[in-house]
Amino acid sequence: MAWTALRGRAWRVRSASSRDARAIAEIYNEAVLHTAATFDTAPRSVAEQRRWLAHHAPRYPVVVVEANGAVVGWASLSAWSDRCAYEDTAEVSFYVREDWRGRGVGRGLLTKLVVEAERSGLHTLLARIAIPNPVSAHLHRTLGFRSIGVMHEVGLKFGRRIDVELFERLPDPRPAPKLRGRLEKDAPACSGANTGRSSPPQGRASTAG
Ligand SMILES: CC(C)(COP(=O)(O)OP(=O)(O)OC[C@H]1O[C@@H](n2cnc3c(N)ncnc32)[C@H](O)[C@@H]1OP(=O)(O)O)[C@@H](O)C(=O)NCCC(=O)NCCS
Repeated sequence: MAWTALRGRAWRVRSASSRDARAIAEIYNEAVLHTAATFDTAPRSVAEQRRWLAHHAPRYPVVVVEANGAVVGWASLSAWSDRCAYEDTAEVSFYVREDWRGRGVGRGLLTKLVVEAERSGLHTLLARIAIPNPVSAHLHRTLGFRSIGVMHEVGLKFGRRIDVELFERLPDPRPAPKLRGRLEKDAPACSGANTGRSSPPQGRASTAG
């Protein structure tokens, strides 16, 4: 996969593996403890993060940005629901290490998710963004998401009630943004239909989910 030079630093987006669990957990836990970007309130252990990665269905990729041999950001698509009629709908999440924010890593991650979603045949992408998060809202808007409403006071974190804005992205009839590399594809994981298929719970990444 190609390396990208960004403001003097080289980084690449690649598929996550279990070896990335510690770095992913560290980046996520900073957001859990210090931001309302995720509505998780307790940090994840590395073991929990490893299990989450292992159970994340291949159709819903988890990707990381690697720079100077370290993971500095990660992003995931997660099934929106385990009910089969939702199988082509996924939720996006992305987190960048604090000292790497504002350098284009978030845009690289979200672009990669959009490309991989189209390759996986996913149809609608959803994002729940706790308000305020102007950077995340801006990145979603510029990558084809649109706001479809606000759920008021659905979150309670740091002693305050938090609104969540819901964004959606439908497939773009134009060619997907250019990014090299390809991730593994697999059958979707869903339950509750008469297909006889079932799968272990996938768990959510999550943003304000
Ligand atoms: C949100 C997050 C993933 C973005 O990653 P990032 O690497 O900082 O983002 P980038 O550097 O790629 O892009 C930032 C963009 O926001 C823009 N921006 C910066 N401040 C802004 C503001 N106050 N209002 C609007 N846009 C703003 C920048 O100009 C840039 O846009 P551009 O690419 O069009 O120039 C990262 O800040 C993060 O991890 N935050 C904490 C966790 C979080 O909020 N996750 C998202 C949950 S929905």
